[in-house]
Amino acid sequence: MNNLTTVITTLEAGIFVITINRPEKLNALNAEVIRELGLAIAEVYTNDNIAAAIVTGAGPKAFVAGADIAEFTSLDGSSGKNLAQLGQQLVFNKIEQCPKPIVAAVNGFALGGGCELAMACHFRYASTNAKFGQPEVNLGLVPGYGGTQRLTQLVGKGRALELMMTGNIISADEALAMGLVNKVCPSEGLMEAVKATLNTIAGKAPLAVAKVIDLVNTACYHPAKGLQMEIDAFGALFESDDLKEGASAFLEKRKPNFKGR
Ligand code: COA
Repeated sequence: MNNLTTVITTLEAGIFVITINRPEKLNALNAEVIRELGLAIAEVYTNDNIAAAIVTGAGPKAFVAGADIAEFTSLDGSSGKNLAQLGQQLVFNKIEQCPKPIVAAVNGFALGGGCELAMACHFRYASTNAKFGQPEVNLGLVPGYGGTQRLTQLVGKGRALELMMTGNIISADEALAMGLVNKVCPSEGLMEAVKATLNTIAGKAPLAVAKVIDLVNTACYHPAKGLQMEIDAFGALFESDDLKEGASAFLEKRKPNFKGR
């Protein structure tokens, strides 16, 4: 995607790397970044050559240090609401609902909208220097890109309330201990660690992986429907070629060759 300026994308071996590229502003999310991130995420949905995506930040210091605070001074109630709504619809919810895996490689500050962006991804790996927090209360705000909901889901009510009420910044190891990230690695090994896990997922049946994402999202947002949806998904997958291939491969003691059908 050569037409983007605040976001760099590369596609290699089925893995689409989306790098937010405003390192001089610690990759803060302004309107242009949100717009271009929306285009990059749309590409993940539509490009059949993309099997999975990684979201990360340019430079050694930040994943994303938050929404661009410089843009806040011109907002009122209505435009502020639009900012949150547009971001959630174009980027954050689209990432969470994407049928292909999208993982955050958190390589530094993940504050405010940056922590929310990482949380919208299906899971997170962090470098040892990563820092997490929802410091919106320092500005007189609350998270607006889904943070109140996703942080609560990921770390539980008590920890989410403490983080959002104090605005405290926590280390990668603290984030690991509370389940906000799945793994902490040295900076130089971060992308390789994420890619290794995505390669493991790439060997699984894509329709089943997509159903897992959908069902876990249902557990978070529509729990009353979850068990029935699981029954329906379980049944639907018996209609797929991949289920026949996976079961045959197991019985024939060979590796399955999934086609995503
Ligand atoms: N919005 C806009 N600009 C931001 C930003 C943000 N969220 N975060 C950092 N920047 C800018 C700084 O203004 C600075 O720009 P300048 O060089 O033109 O002055 C540049 O990025 C570098 O940041 P700086 O503050 O000098 O780096 P630091 O290492 O001293 O501090 C942080 C790093 C992350 C602790 C600090 O930048 C910070 O607190 N950022 C805001 C975090 C936040 O509240 N996010 C939630 C927003 S809702």
